[in-house]
Amino acid sequence: MITHIHDNEAETARALIERIIQLVNEHSSDHKVNIALSGGSTPALMFRLWAEEYNNQTPWHQIRFFWVDERCVPPTDSESNYGMTYDNLLCKIDLPKENVVRVKGENHPEEEARRYEAQIRTMLPEENGIPIFDIILLGAGNDGHTSSIFPGQEYLLNAQEVYAVSTQPQSGQRRVALTGKPIIYAKNVIFLLTGKAKATVLADIIDQNDAGPAAYIGHHALNTVEVYADKVAAGQI
Ligand code: 6PG
Repeated sequence: MITHIHDNEAETARALIERIIQLVNEHSSDHKVNIALSGGSTPALMFRLWAEEYNNQTPWHQIRFFWVDERCVPPTDSESNYGMTYDNLLCKIDLPKENVVRVKGENHPEEEARRYEAQIRTMLPEENGIPIFDIILLGAGNDGHTSSIFPGQEYLLNAQEVYAVSTQPQSGQRRVALTGKPIIYAKNVIFLLTGKAKATVLADIIDQNDAGPAAYIGHHALNTVEVYADKVAAGQI
């Protein structure tokens, strides 16, 4: 595991954007780089800076965006991960429409999980029946969750499905979530953790102590795992 600590949230975001651009540039140009994005509030600044400061240096035509997880709400809802990404990044860049493959949070959750999985299987290469993303960008919560796999839902770490429906324990909001195996098999798993509230989960991920779903992923991922964090999130390591 490689940990990158930066002075503040913006510097952390910039370093992560530069790393993603490097990975895209290193990739063979014969096929697209398949990137699964997380949502929540953490990546909003990074998405904004990506559009504002790195638009011209990003080979957008080489990138295809998918989602790690989506809240079961329409794209216009303020809770929508796609909506947040659209407002901060997608509406400001020249990415071909077919390179944005969203989870339709407005659909029936179980049917949408099955539909999205089937769509992903037609677009991504597979190993042992598992679709392989080039880059999976993850956030985490201080309760230890990642993707939308919350403590108590660890069965999703080993589920047969590629996407499954989970429930946010406090609000009861349903989510369509990428399960553990495709995350573990991804070529690059990258956590973005900023702010004081991420200090415990960051320490658990680095300890590789299986304390919760995020730490489990950090421990068991088969390929490169990187953590991008700011100093305050890194306060407990
Ligand atoms: C989501 C996510 C989720 C997120 C964490 C952290 O839909 O909520 O994709 O996995 O990364 O919940 O959320 P914050 O960035 O809002 O703290």
